Amino acid sequence: MRPVLVFDSGSGGLSVWQEINARLPDLDTAYCADFAAAPYGMLTDSAIEARVIAVMDQARAALDPGLIVIACNTASTLLLDTLRARYPVPFVGVVPAIKTAAALTRNKRICLLATPATVKRAYTEELIRQFAGDCEVSRLPRGELVHAAEAFVRGKPVDTELSAVLAQIDRLAVDTVVLGCTHFPLLKPLFQQERPDIHWVDSGAAIARRVESLCGQQDLRLSVGGTRLACYTGAEDEPWEACVADLGFAQRLRWDISAGLP
Ligand code: DGL
Repeated sequence: MRPVLVFDSGSGGLSVWQEINARLPDLDTAYCADFAAAPYGMLTDSAIEARVIAVMDQARAALDPGLIVIACNTASTLLLDTLRARYPVPFVGVVPAIKTAAALTRNKRICLLATPATVKRAYTEELIRQFAGDCEVSRLPRGELVHAAEAFVRGKPVDTELSAVLAQIDRLAVDTVVLGCTHFPLLKPLFQQERPDIHWVDSGAAIARRVESLCGQQDLRLSVGGTRLACYTGAEDEPWEACVADLGFAQRLRWDISAGLP
């Protein structure tokens, strides 16, 4: 097996994996969630770097991926160059969809909803400067929404967290919200239901198109057959295994990776 590997600190990357899977259902894919070190958005940059490298070492040794999607804005906005220099595998990163938001907004008011780490990155500032210079972009760091998304995929209610963030967004009077953390599109149907007039923008579909285009341009020797393998670190997590089983991940593995733990 030489799969496309989709990686995140937790369940967020599943929002990206779903877009890839919808477009390219025959690809073999592996998903990797680093629950043992999550949430990344609360870690220092050096802790994130050490941990992502530890998990990438394990993932490469165990899975031999032909393409790796870092389905985590927090890691991608920090580390993409480092990873590309370190490993002889193509990487696709996920970064906040500022450009799309700037094209969609009518009132030129955008909210960037992301982790505390992502909102303060130089990479993010550069995206805003380059693509949304004529907009007012409010940075809204909401690390606790990552926990809410994790609860949601395990079948728990998230009404309180949702109401809190919607109240903050209402005060900003924006017409477009960038879901700049891959966990947040998991809650998108709820956001859309509560605020149908707002554009809720994420990068998932664009990433799936990018993966498809790379597959067409380069011989990545990816295997096909639609095999789906989910790996995770941290404590045994039956509700999560049930969630990914529903998505078609027939094989689930728990990895014990102590290197790089914060
Ligand atoms: N899903 C991740 C992101 O896109 C990180 C969430 C976290 O672990 O803080 O930023």
